[in-house]
Amino acid sequence: MAAARILVVDDEKSARDALKAILTDEGFEVAEAADGEEALALMPSFMPDAVLADVRMPKLDGLAFMRRCREEGHGAVFVMMTAFASIEAAVEAMRAGAESYLVKPIDVSSVLVVLEKALEKRTLQRDADSLRARLHERYRFHSIIGDSAELQAVFDVVKRAAPTKATVLILGESGTGKELIGQAIHEESPRKDKPFIKVNCAALSESLLESELFGHEKGSFTGAIGRREGRFELADGGTLFLDEIGEIAPSIQIKLLRVLQQREFERVGGEQTIKVDVRLVAATNKDLAAEVKAGRFREDLFYRLNVVAVTLPPLRGRRGDIPALTAHFIEKYAKSYDKDIRGLAPGTLNALLSHDWPGNVRELENVVERAVVLAVGHDLTADDLPPTLRGPRPRDRAAGSLIPGATLHEIEREAILRTLEMVSGSTSRAAEVLGISVRKIQYRLKEYADLANGVAVPSHEVAASADPAGPLAVADVTRP
Ligand SMILES: Nc1ncnc2c1ncn2[C@@H]1O[C@H](COP(=O)(O)OP(=O)(O)OP(=O)(O)O)[C@@H](O)[C@H]1O
Ligand SMILES: [Mg+2]
Repeated sequence: MAAARILVVDDEKSARDALKAILTDEGFEVAEAADGEEALALMPSFMPDAVLADVRMPKLDGLAFMRRCREEGHGAVFVMMTAFASIEAAVEAMRAGAESYLVKPIDVSSVLVVLEKALEKRTLQRDADSLRARLHERYRFHSIIGDSAELQAVFDVVKRAAPTKATVLILGESGTGKELIGQAIHEESPRKDKPFIKVNCAALSESLLESELFGHEKGSFTGAIGRREGRFELADGGTLFLDEIGEIAPSIQIKLLRVLQQREFERVGGEQTIKVDVRLVAATNKDLAAEVKAGRFREDLFYRLNVVAVTLPPLRGRRGDIPALTAHFIEKYAKSYDKDIRGLAPGTLNALLSHDWPGNVRELENVVERAVVLAVGHDLTADDLPPTLRGPRPRDRAAGSLIPGATLHEIEREAILRTLEMVSGSTSRAAEVLGISVRKIQYRLKEYADLANGVAVPSHEVAASADPAGPLAVADVTRP
């Protein structure tokens, strides 16, 4: 095993020299710094396992140095060194997360004992870090978070389509992550080191969009002072992401069709034909097929764009992503607002799981950011959520309005259907939550469907002869 690395930080050279000699003798790899700033600069390259830091130092003192290391994500355990007179500072350091402290003058045996303990702690910490990193990996595709089967299916299509040159059309409601998918397609492609150029087609007027996309020649219109390259030229060799493609005017639809067919175009007011090698990715929250039917979008262009379609389901259709997304946004905003938030108080996840999220992931991100800002303790509570999410929990609501006068059978039905909704239709997960068998859920579902279809069914327990392999007896009801 490689020797543990120790960083010694002290403004007193004689103290550093003595410690360095002792620790090197013991077989540690040692680096030294004369103050917090110098030490901070060493952290990324030396990556110490433990830091021995004096509390009182010029520039950046020991405590501030430790905080900066935490902020920048350097993992190391800290042992603070202090003169007897400033024991209080050492106590403060312990409160701020230091592992231990040593009182100066330092004796050899206590340094070694304290360091050994600290290094043990570091090993545990490192195991936990790598576990967390692995968890993150499983839920992450580029910067896209989520572990629902629905999102995994999207990732599968993206992974297969990305390496090709095929045009990709990304469909989905606002806030579902279409832009992130566009970026991931680029990053997964052999073009990843070439430009990724974005154009928001809804943000520009017809004529501005035209010159934005194709460029213009000097004097081609009032204000065209010089020649300007368009986004197609800038994206040469790379990927062009056309956002809100459903909004483009008919005249631009024709031009776009030509680029897609012939890979060539002219600048506005120009004669010269320009050839480009551009991979096109387009996105829209409109139902483009319906736009075609309504005569607002060219059918030929639609087919050219729709070579590979990626449809991002709305968040309410993949509630399984909510826990991982929430954890991700808590981490993100706790960091940016410098707050020590660790998770959710009991009941809060339920409120998040049962909301309908018309604004999708963007709305969830806003809700979590707001909650992080408002939170007083280490956990987000229902009080930190906007009023629309706070109301009574649906399960309570359902039970509350149902119990007086409802039959057990009706209550069971409500419980099964609501639970299924919360777990994105996975009968196995619903069975786990409710503490009943998958078979029973499947049988009940068939029963509810039969009832809805007017087929008479007995309402007593599952009969041995009941056929759970009926049309609904698949593992996951809402998934194909
Ligand atoms: N799966 C996800 N993981 C992490 N962040 C996400 C995810 N999906 C969306 N987001 C975040 O939600 C916000 C909205 O995502 P994005 O801009 O990609 O949505 P969109 O579908 O393009 O929306 P619009 O149609 O309104 O442009 C962004 O801040 C994005 O980072
Ligand atoms: Mg977008």
